[in-house]
Amino acid sequence: MGYGLAGAPYFCLTICLLPVFLQGLEILDPGEVVYVRTVTKGVVGRSVMLECGTTLPDIYIWGFTLPGDDHIRAVVYNFGKGPKLQKLATSLGELSVISDSSSLLIDRLPLFAQGLYTCQALYDTNEGALVYYYYVRLLVLVPVTKPYILLSDSSPVEGTPMWMRCRLENGTGPIHYIWERENFNGVISEFNVGNISLMNITGVTRNHTGWYRCLARNEVNQQRSDRIWLDIIFGPDSPHIDITPYSVTERGFSALERETVVLLCKASSNPPSLYVWFYNNSQVYIGPQFTITKILRMHTGYYSCLAQNTYLNTRSKTTITLTVYYPPDGSPTCNIFPGNNYTDLALWCSWMGGHPQASLYWTGADDLSGQGQSQTNATLMQPGSKTTDGSTFTCHGSHVTLNSSASCNVTALPPPGDPQCSAYATRNNEYLMLSCSWEGGTPRALLSWVASNGAPQGSSEENANILVLRSSATYSGKAFVCTTKHPLSPVNKRCILKLEAPVLVTQRSIVSVYEGSDVQLTCVLRANYPATEITWYNNLRHMVWDTPRKYQLHNEAAWSNLTVRETDGMQDSGQYWCSATNAVGGAEIPITLYVRKYPVPPNVTISKIVYNSRKRTEVDLEWTTATAGHLTGFFMERQRTLAAEVKVDSGLPWQKVVADLAPELRSHTLRGQDPATLYAFRITAVNHRTVGHPSEVRTPADPPFTAYPAVIGAAIGGMLLATILTVLLFLYIVRNRNNNRREYHPPWSSAARH
Ligand SMILES: *[C@@H]1O[C@H](CO)[C@@H](O)[C@H](O)[C@H]1NC(C)=O
Ligand SMILES: *[C@@H]1O[C@H](CO)[C@@H](O)[C@H](O)[C@H]1NC(C)=O
Ligand SMILES: *[C@@H]1O[C@H](CO)[C@@H](O)[C@H](O)[C@H]1NC(C)=O
Ligand SMILES: *[C@@H]1O[C@H](CO)[C@@H](O)[C@H](O)[C@H]1NC(C)=O
Ligand SMILES: *[C@@H]1O[C@H](CO)[C@@H](O)[C@H](O)[C@H]1NC(C)=O
Ligand SMILES: *[C@@H]1O[C@H](CO)[C@@H](O)[C@H](O)[C@H]1NC(C)=O
Ligand SMILES: *[C@@H]1O[C@H](CO)[C@@H](O)[C@H](O)[C@H]1NC(C)=O
Ligand SMILES: *[C@@H]1O[C@H](CO)[C@@H](O)[C@H](O)[C@H]1NC(C)=O
Ligand SMILES: *[C@@H]1O[C@H](CO)[C@@H](O)[C@H](O)[C@H]1NC(C)=O
Ligand SMILES: *[C@@H]1O[C@H](CO)[C@@H](O)[C@H](O)[C@H]1NC(C)=O
Ligand SMILES: *[C@@H]1O[C@H](CO)[C@@H](O)[C@H](O)[C@H]1NC(C)=O
Repeated sequence: MGYGLAGAPYFCLTICLLPVFLQGLEILDPGEVVYVRTVTKGVVGRSVMLECGTTLPDIYIWGFTLPGDDHIRAVVYNFGKGPKLQKLATSLGELSVISDSSSLLIDRLPLFAQGLYTCQALYDTNEGALVYYYYVRLLVLVPVTKPYILLSDSSPVEGTPMWMRCRLENGTGPIHYIWERENFNGVISEFNVGNISLMNITGVTRNHTGWYRCLARNEVNQQRSDRIWLDIIFGPDSPHIDITPYSVTERGFSALERETVVLLCKASSNPPSLYVWFYNNSQVYIGPQFTITKILRMHTGYYSCLAQNTYLNTRSKTTITLTVYYPPDGSPTCNIFPGNNYTDLALWCSWMGGHPQASLYWTGADDLSGQGQSQTNATLMQPGSKTTDGSTFTCHGSHVTLNSSASCNVTALPPPGDPQCSAYATRNNEYLMLSCSWEGGTPRALLSWVASNGAPQGSSEENANILVLRSSATYSGKAFVCTTKHPLSPVNKRCILKLEAPVLVTQRSIVSVYEGSDVQLTCVLRANYPATEITWYNNLRHMVWDTPRKYQLHNEAAWSNLTVRETDGMQDSGQYWCSATNAVGGAEIPITLYVRKYPVPPNVTISKIVYNSRKRTEVDLEWTTATAGHLTGFFMERQRTLAAEVKVDSGLPWQKVVADLAPELRSHTLRGQDPATLYAFRITAVNHRTVGHPSEVRTPADPPFTAYPAVIGAAIGGMLLATILTVLLFLYIVRNRNNNRREYHPPWSSAARH
């Protein structure tokens, strides 16, 4: 540009000056001046060479024009006597002329040396003088200094506008700017290559985060700025929740009970998010990773992660549903129920308690394998007619929480044997109970009672059915039928009960027996249902219990013996009853017992009764009977008496002295009598239990008198007083002997009448 401004005056000046400098020089054709224009660039502080032709001219002059100035001033000239530097040259840096040339060398080029340098050169050639004008435009270039980055905001919030400027102190334009960004991975990328020093961003994003550098370049050099960190504040984004182990269902996430579940929350944010965990809206944990060790079914619910940007005081939240799966209890339960009115088998399987519900299916059914698939419980209908006894069916259960499946088995079986019927009555025969049972089948059999006329009785029951009827004689002779139904029993089984009132019979309705022996009364029970027992009533109409001394009972199902022990003619004769009562009636029959006495034994007469010595310690007895036979023995009795030779019962008690004398005996000696006491004696014959009339009462007589000297001798023997008393007593007895005999009364005259 300087050309246009300085060209004309500069040219004029040179023309004017030249004649002065070129004395003696022939200018052939002054109009033929050659103009050469060049541009030389120098860098401030360094050296630059300004050329003025390639060969040394004969005469040259260098002029300098400041930019924007129209004055040209001489710097150096050489009119053939060596270069002459002007004052001006010293102000243009270290300016020198290269020897043997007209070129200028400027060392340590100052900035103000920039301008238009003009070299007017004259060459003396054979063809004449040649004038050259060299216009050398010197551009002093300044290297770029180290740039730096200016940020409108070093921590802008995402979405807001910002700018970045690359600034430098010095540097000759045009300056190219290159922006470099280094991301987290250290990868450097260039962008906005060009001369743009300003990056104006209307909305920053987190992607702008990074290290920034700018590079400034001009013709001379290039420089990089220090890197600067651009921190974009943002977030938190909507949190993302990661669940380990990962399992998704239609209603959210699921976990297996007792597992360890890790909930990890991630929400992009700068500065990093603060995380808070909520379970069903109550805070449970602070931190990004919430770990539940051994999760339980009660931990099912809503889990929320709240992310907070504490710098921006912004927050965002994500909620998930977590369902804890747990296995069902125990193992599946199998059963068989009757179906379709006891014609089919309903195979039933259940496995409760798990979440989600267990899935179940049946196998083993004829052509239905795998069917009946269901949850919680599975029922499969299997026709009874197509099923053989003992068929086993298996129900398989599986659950998401269990890796092995569980199963249960059922076996279809009819109850064993036949139904059993029986009847019994409640106490006092108030109610009649008809029982029917057929137990043990799978499924259980159905039992129903039907009257003989076909009318159903009561309700139908499984396994056992008891029909309760109020006792009534109208049922006697009636039949009741128990019918059964079972899917595996195509023909209905039955059992029949026929109710009958008891019927009693006896072999002998009149029994006679001799007194003292045992007698058996027998009663036989016929046609008795429900079964009952025979009870006995004695001749006094009292119920008979087993009292071993008197009554012995021997009861069997169909008969009963009553033994009456040691029959007594007075007490045991009479009418006995045997009786039996059941719920549909009763019976009673009499048995008459005669207890007979033996014939009365003959009367006994004492023919002799005498002391066999004077000591009176032994009595000899002899007797006779009126008739022979009908006797089994004798017994003897004595009675104290006050007078000798009495023949009547004194009324004092009788004492048995000999119990059973053989029937053939007619004499007996009683020994060990007390001589001091006077007794009367009698003898009675017995025939078994029949006691005869006692004999007359007799006192023993003394032996013949030969006994006196002995008595007296004994008295003399020393016991004088005792002897006198004995003699007195003796005399008294002898004197009163006859008086006593006259007042005798036989003892049985009054006793036999009772
Ligand atoms: C820029 O140039 C000016 C004047 O030319 C000078 O004073 C200054 O030192 C230079 N700055 C740098 C950083 O070189
Ligand atoms: C920058 O470059 C553009 C074109 O790329 C140009 O138009 C503009 O003049 C240049 N500016 C400078 C100062 O060099
Ligand atoms: C950036 O650009 C916007 C719109 O284009 C303008 O309003 C704003 O002044 C610019 N900022 C700078 C520093 O140039
Ligand atoms: C950031 O960059 C990624 C990948 O280059 C892009 O998917 C995403 O949309 C960018 N984010 C923004 C906010 O521009
Ligand atoms: C949490 O919420 C779920 C779903 O409403 C509920 O089933 C569960 O019982 C709740 N848990 C507690 C501890 O309240
Ligand atoms: C069941 O079967 C019996 C015959 O075995 C019949 O009388 C009765 O009506 C049936 N019940 C139903 C509900 O079909
Ligand atoms: C079997 O399950 C069904 C629903 O799945 C239910 O209605 C029925 O009551 C269940 N039966 C038994 C016996 O649990
Ligand atoms: C279930 O599977 C897991 C992993 O496959 C195994 O560790 C565990 O022992 C299994 N449990 C049973 C009862 O088989
Ligand atoms: C069911 O029966 C099959 C064969 O009949 C047998 O292998 C299995 O162990 C049985 N399962 C159970 C639980 O009894
Ligand atoms: C019961 O009495 C009958 C007839 O008297 C008799 O035949 C039978 O042997 C007796 N039974 C017993 C066990 O005594
Ligand atoms: C036996 O004696 C009694 C009374 O002493 C008498 O009544 C009865 O007639 C006598 N019998 C005979 C057969 O003499």
